[in-house]
Amino acid sequence: MKKYRVVVVGMGKRGMHHAAAFNANPRFEVAGICDIDDARLEAAAAKLGRPQTGKDAAALAAAVKPDVFCFCTLPHLRSSLIEAGIRSGARLIAFEKPVALTTLEGRRIKKMLDDSGTKAVISHQHRYGAHYQKVKEIIAGGTLGRVHTVYGTATGWMTHMLSHLIEYMRWFNNDVKADWVMAQASGRGKLADLHPSPDYLGGFIQFANGVRGIVECGAGAPDVPEVSYWWRKCRIGAQGTDGFAEVLTGGGWRAVTRNGASAGEGCMNYDLDMPPYIQQMADWLDDDAQIHPCGFAGAYEGFEIMMGLCRSAVQGGQIALPLTADADEIALLRERLPAGKVLVAMPENLKEYA
Ligand SMILES: NC(=O)c1ccc[n+]([C@@H]2O[C@H](COP(=O)([O-])OP(=O)(O)OC[C@H]3O[C@@H](n4cnc5c(N)ncnc54)[C@H](O)[C@@H]3O)[C@@H](O)[C@H]2O)c1
Repeated sequence: MKKYRVVVVGMGKRGMHHAAAFNANPRFEVAGICDIDDARLEAAAAKLGRPQTGKDAAALAAAVKPDVFCFCTLPHLRSSLIEAGIRSGARLIAFEKPVALTTLEGRRIKKMLDDSGTKAVISHQHRYGAHYQKVKEIIAGGTLGRVHTVYGTATGWMTHMLSHLIEYMRWFNNDVKADWVMAQASGRGKLADLHPSPDYLGGFIQFANGVRGIVECGAGAPDVPEVSYWWRKCRIGAQGTDGFAEVLTGGGWRAVTRNGASAGEGCMNYDLDMPPYIQQMADWLDDDAQIHPCGFAGAYEGFEIMMGLCRSAVQGGQIALPLTADADEIALLRERLPAGKVLVAMPENLKEYA
């Protein structure tokens, strides 16, 4: 079977996770790595079997001509790397969430991928967790009755967490498209972060099948007291006429269904979540029909929901989807978000949202 050659750009936390997982899978081989930081690049090369290295992603990709171009840089760096991946002739581009920071860039990325026919996947890999899979299985099994609501909350801020929440809410609602969204946002502190965000955003999503989505992210989102690790205080679930099922990113799953109450363990774990995420890239490269569950088309619908929520928070009112024009949503938030200090849901949040 063909062994796919991979270039990985950005040898930080997530780049190393990706490179190690590609090398651990017999269907892949990391042939090139890139970072602008010499020390990081050298340390990574020593761990990854001395692949070709470079500080310029486009030049490295052009030289290596990989099957898979993967990049794990911070969110401000997206479209130039998509372009580098496409130019290198890669058949699949794997990159980190969020799709982009603005529709100005997100729509450009979509056009480049559509025009070139390049496959792409976005790293919403939490879904591989056994506790996430269990909740999906319960919802799909029908014992919640008619599902009318999906929900997601996270204590971390928008650009880190919201695309994850929306992705799994969409999954729990069978990837149905959204018709409109409406939101409020508060707190300017994290607009200066490398993951620029309002400190708190809360909103509603109207899905085309009538299901309501409710989402909250950041300083004012409710605590998940069952989970102690701050970044994993996320609750994502579905309610139906006969019960509910939900996953806690750092605290297992629980459900009440027609058959009674049940619960189980599970915690987000990169070592467990990355291997199946990587394997399904090989499956999709082998066979066009085996579309990756984290494929770009679905992630882009989630991205539009996120950008629609930002636009609503800025301009007020409901925002119809799909979005039809470009905007710089982060610039709009910087311009118009009120100056008032954000109010937190629990004292522990003050360390991040002081
Ligand atoms: N899916 C998840 O569970 C998850 C978890 C954490 C972070 N993330 C996302 O992963 C992305 C990266 O986060 P991270 O924590 O790994 O960041 P990081 O800061 O640890 O790593 C980024 C690396 O990119 C390098 N870099 C910057 N500009 C570059 C360029 N032009 N060319 C090559 N390399 C360059 C930096 O030197 C750094 O080594 C972010 O978008 C973040 O939101 C996802």
